[in-house]
Amino acid sequence: MKVFSSLLIFLGILAIGSTDGDEEFANYNVTNRKYPDGFKFGVATAAYQIEGAWNLDGKGEQIWDTFFHEHPERSNDGTNGDVATDSYHLYKEDIRCMKEVGVDYYRLSIAWSRLLPDGTIDNVNKNAKNYYTSLFEELRANGIEVMVTLYHWDLPTALEKQGGWLNPQVVDWFTDYATLCYHLYGTYVKDWVTINEPKQICHVGYGDGGYAPGVRSPGVGEYTCARHILLAHAKAWRVFDTQYRPTLKSRNTIVVDSDWYEPATSADEEAAETKLQFVHGMYMHPIVFGNWPQIMIDNVAKFSQVQGFNESRLPAFSNEEIELIKGTFDFIAINHYTTYMVKARSQPSYAVSWVADSGVDSYQKDTWETAAIGWFKKVPWGFGKLLRWLRKTYGDLEIVVTENGVSDRDGSLQDQHRIEYIKNYMSHLIDAIHDGVRVTSYTLWSIIDNFEWTQGFNGKLGIYFVNQSDPNLPRIAKDSSRYYANVIKTKCLLDQCVDN
Ligand code: NOJ
Repeated sequence: MKVFSSLLIFLGILAIGSTDGDEEFANYNVTNRKYPDGFKFGVATAAYQIEGAWNLDGKGEQIWDTFFHEHPERSNDGTNGDVATDSYHLYKEDIRCMKEVGVDYYRLSIAWSRLLPDGTIDNVNKNAKNYYTSLFEELRANGIEVMVTLYHWDLPTALEKQGGWLNPQVVDWFTDYATLCYHLYGTYVKDWVTINEPKQICHVGYGDGGYAPGVRSPGVGEYTCARHILLAHAKAWRVFDTQYRPTLKSRNTIVVDSDWYEPATSADEEAAETKLQFVHGMYMHPIVFGNWPQIMIDNVAKFSQVQGFNESRLPAFSNEEIELIKGTFDFIAINHYTTYMVKARSQPSYAVSWVADSGVDSYQKDTWETAAIGWFKKVPWGFGKLLRWLRKTYGDLEIVVTENGVSDRDGSLQDQHRIEYIKNYMSHLIDAIHDGVRVTSYTLWSIIDNFEWTQGFNGKLGIYFVNQSDPNLPRIAKDSSRYYANVIKTKCLLDQCVDN
């Protein structure tokens, strides 16, 4: 009998070990707990996706202007961000929407090439200086706090012509630009983000070439880019820390995006951890601990040797660089949208690329719902798992969710699917807080439908519809904006909640 019950327990453990989130959360109910007092709610956008005015009032060209002008076919619907939602002129309309929703803060980005048309600080565009001042003044007048991203993918083309993120000088170009922004706008900004989503910048921009500037250098250029991103972030953060923080009392960090990677079976747990280290750890591990994750150092060295390289394709950091990078954050900032399943590879792939270097395969399940093109699959439990993993991996640090949201193609005003997405993702976020993960703010992407990079206007993520066929580009509230407004007001995701 004893042997039999031990066997049952053993089989039970095995069965639990192979359960994935779909089974674990099959009977999940949205929580009736409230968000804690002091929790903040925001919305986000980025310059190229909303500003338009691509060549007005002295703005210089940036890599996405160049990319789409030279390759219109790279955008899903043939459109580009030349006009976008014309927020350069209509920013007060955007702020009116934010006010209506009742957000605490707005995360926006400054266009480097608007402020510095040539990329460098010897030519500052006065019109741009005034434009951002007016924008910040309007936010202040409306009682909306400001979070600024300094780099949301839009490198001035003049700098790309000199190698862009592959040129070591980019560390100083970026630091000069960041310093100018601290100087000009420091009194308006509560939280700074140096760089948004290095993964997309490096692995798509300089790896597979799918994003601007469209450089194809898998397994080599993408690592050089990552190294420079980390050094640029670190140097700009140190300037902030020593010269601006003492008087401004604001904070500064980097946004690292991460999907959740769920092991396909219990035998794939190590593979899923490796994938997380290649995706999130690659950028966050150096910032918290000083160097690349060990699994990356080992894997890339091993693969490079087999491939006949003289040294690892993953460039090493010197001791001084490690000291420079280590600790350059005030909180963890995370963009999260979806989840992938991970399987260990039975046969290694020896392709020269960051994707192959992880040595694992990932995929999404067909059963996961989506209203969008591509990867925007709704897997809310992955969010909770990612948040707990962050705490386990980096310790008890403050986490700010700087982006979360979902896309559709038609921008329907009756966007029940978005309400369900927000409700479920935000519910798993409350659960994680309840389990001790220190998340303090949530940012919804996005306040308005805007230009979704290579998906053009076919990727709509706004809680306000922007009617692109009306020359006035009116912003029209979707049902999700009313839902989010109510969550902000009541701190509750359902009609009723229990008190905390
Ligand atoms: C992350 C990026 O930061 C943002 O620019 C983009 O629009 C959203 N993901 C949605 O894809």
